[in-house]
Amino acid sequence: MTRRFGFSIHATDGRARTGAIETPRGEIRTPAFMPVGTAATVKAMLPESVRATGADILLGNTYHLMLRPTAERIARLGGLHRFMNWDRPILTDSGGFQVMSLAELRKLTEEGVTFRSHVDGARHSLTPERSMEIQRLLGSDIVMCFDECPALPADRARIEQSMRLSMRWAARSREAFGDRPGHALFGIMQGGLERDLREESAESLKAIGFDGYAVGGLAVGEGQEAMFGVLDYAPGFLPQDKPRYLMGVGKPDDIVGAVQRGIDMFDCVLPSRSGRTGQALTRMGAVNIKNARHADDPRPLDPECSCPACTRYSRAYLHHVFKAGEIISSMLLTWHNLHYYQELMQGLRDAIAAGRLADFAASFHARRAEGDL
Ligand code: GUN
Ligand code: ZN
Repeated sequence: MTRRFGFSIHATDGRARTGAIETPRGEIRTPAFMPVGTAATVKAMLPESVRATGADILLGNTYHLMLRPTAERIARLGGLHRFMNWDRPILTDSGGFQVMSLAELRKLTEEGVTFRSHVDGARHSLTPERSMEIQRLLGSDIVMCFDECPALPADRARIEQSMRLSMRWAARSREAFGDRPGHALFGIMQGGLERDLREESAESLKAIGFDGYAVGGLAVGEGQEAMFGVLDYAPGFLPQDKPRYLMGVGKPDDIVGAVQRGIDMFDCVLPSRSGRTGQALTRMGAVNIKNARHADDPRPLDPECSCPACTRYSRAYLHHVFKAGEIISSMLLTWHNLHYYQELMQGLRDAIAAGRLADFAASFHARRAEGDL
């Protein structure tokens, strides 16, 4: 028998929930953080190392993989899981968002979007139907609807028009996805900072029916206060019994605040990208390993962290390898950052299960306010 996709909530604390998404490739503990593996790799990490940090699921990108090495090639080679040697769940974003931020000469119509590749300038097109086909060829476990996301600030007319187009594309995505036991299709809510448009979007998605629901169109320049303003009501428009995914978020304090507002899943390039630019994210806040004050410091980055960077190396070493441009610098800081994020998620899950989320959030903020030692 094929194991089906499912979601169960084990405990709640206020609006926060903890539980698990079941997939044929394994369980995803929620609230979950998905490391970003855009080009079939989490940069600077082996898949087994990503797993060792505690990740249950990775995110992959339709846009990058369709351009290089192409979805058809990955399918011929046995699918994305085998290709990148990660046998647990993979969620793939649908491409629309990346086209808007990365591709050149974009043209948006009712049908979809045509664009030139940022890799070699070749012309491509993406439609809801083609995005569903690519995500099927990749073998994605959680497929995202093809949507459009305007950068903020944008005027209300633009947000409304774009949201309604995304809802028509959501219906076409649902139709093209079909019935695929063991695989899930998530809808994406849009509507910017407009409460009534968020509600209309949620109603459209619920009428179509999805296995999970994403909140899209946030963390696109509006700031944390405005984002939390939307998260104060938007998750409440979505079904209680389905996973809720906040796309592209975020900083550790964004994640804590969003979990408190009822979000179950996150992805963000921040821990992996900042690992490559010398920024360590720790329970004391961000530590810039480039800073000269670390050059003679024999202490670990974070004495409470059990990752390889913190248990086997000094701040002085991490500073040196960063300054020398050594590859191990990216490897160690990425490992630390992903480990920290996964520990944060475990802390959130445990706190919700124990009904102590408010205390957890208070000490999270207090530790950061004390700052680095
Ligand atoms: N990543 C971050 N935000 C979004 C969004 O609104 N839509 C999609 N597809 N991906 C995202
Ligand atoms: Zn560490």
